[in-house]
Amino acid sequence: MAMAENQIRVFKSLKETRKPEVAKIIGEIPEWAAGQVSRSCPAKWDYPKFRLNHTFDGYQMITKFDIKGGKSGSVSFTSKFVSSEAFKRAEASQKPIISEFSTRTAGSDAKSALGKIVAMILQATDNCQYICTSEICRNPIVIGHAGFMYELDPKSLHCISKYDSANDFSLHAISAHPLTDPATGETYNVGISIVPAVKWKVVKYPQGCKSSPLKETLKKGKIIGSHSCRTKSGVPLLHSFGMSNNYLVWIDQPCHFNLAKAIKLMFKGFCQREVMDWFPEKKNQFYIFNKKTLKVMKTEILSKDAFVFLHILNCYEENDHLIVDLFGMPNIQFVDAQVLAKLRAWHVLRDAECPRLLRFVIPLGVATIGICPENKNLVSVNSTATALKIDDKIFLQPELVSDVKMDFPTWNKKFSGKDLRFVWTTGALCPSVHHHKVIKLKTIWFGKLFGNEGEMAGFYGMAGWEGFERGRKGLF
Ligand SMILES: [Fe+2]
Repeated sequence: MAMAENQIRVFKSLKETRKPEVAKIIGEIPEWAAGQVSRSCPAKWDYPKFRLNHTFDGYQMITKFDIKGGKSGSVSFTSKFVSSEAFKRAEASQKPIISEFSTRTAGSDAKSALGKIVAMILQATDNCQYICTSEICRNPIVIGHAGFMYELDPKSLHCISKYDSANDFSLHAISAHPLTDPATGETYNVGISIVPAVKWKVVKYPQGCKSSPLKETLKKGKIIGSHSCRTKSGVPLLHSFGMSNNYLVWIDQPCHFNLAKAIKLMFKGFCQREVMDWFPEKKNQFYIFNKKTLKVMKTEILSKDAFVFLHILNCYEENDHLIVDLFGMPNIQFVDAQVLAKLRAWHVLRDAECPRLLRFVIPLGVATIGICPENKNLVSVNSTATALKIDDKIFLQPELVSDVKMDFPTWNKKFSGKDLRFVWTTGALCPSVHHHKVIKLKTIWFGKLFGNEGEMAGFYGMAGWEGFERGRKGLF
């Protein structure tokens, strides 16, 4: 398939595939490779007289591959849009009624004057973008950054139920990747409340939720921790956090949604991108939450240089250090590079702006910072990452684990919180031999990257986005 054709297909508005399309199989699918792989992806931006602006704005589609292994094996494909209010109203009006990340509302569908005024005031979109891989529900769920969640029927992909974290937990933002502790079966998530003050919140769901309807799980969830955000009027960009045996780690990126700006623009209209600030001089702040004491470590831990990221890959403890692996980028260019017009013209990220696998190492002894020596590397595990104490703060510099441009990781969840041996990622949207590829990484000895073991099937026609697997043994 020609490259130019691939580029255009990736960001084209799609129709649903209700009737399963059955693939022609060349060779034989292994017996063990049976199950279902679902992905969420933006798939509709275009209406006759209106186009949404950004990848993040696209109405979400769930795609599903049903896989049967063995001699009579088969793969069939179906897809369906998430029936969010945002999508349904846009379809009815043929334009966005609820503003999306980088697209303002194109008007109101309300009939009364009061309804039109209300529509002008901020209404969070329920166009949930991320299919979730944790064990908090019997079925797949999709989550949006504003806290909406849908439970999906895995066969039909219909939405069974919908919840709003702003109502249930007063959370106005949540991580799209709740994490299940493989040792206890408990699931954690990190969110942010903005009323009465901007605060980080930790939610815990008990074990056994894997077989529950989402409604039942959410009833069992409890806020177990809270911590002030470093700015009073900014909501940090939050997509994922890390978890080791004893700790949760989240990172305040110097990329905030400015509430003061949002209030000023409320009656004029705005979208999130218009109130998003990037202030690299503040660096990134790491928060370490103890799962037993439910307290955040008081020591101020900052990155030496600012970075932005979506995905923390893994987090584990080794010899009294906390290892945090993530796919970091040096600035927020990845946001503006995903303006649809640019992508359709294949103006993608430049090499230096792409996500790469970085390793931050935090010596846990910095909790008693008073006894740490100044300006001396406090990291004593096998890594080139450093941690320096300067003026009663800890500054971290990461190790570049791999120069491959990649993101959207997945791994065997049984090994969450441990040093991972295999990781699968997708190539970043930049001119690279790895873009549109699934990458399998093999790691050995203290997580040092051994090499790019092999590129698997190219995913032509699909933008890199979240995935969810169900199967007898798991497909990955
Ligand atoms: Fe994600």
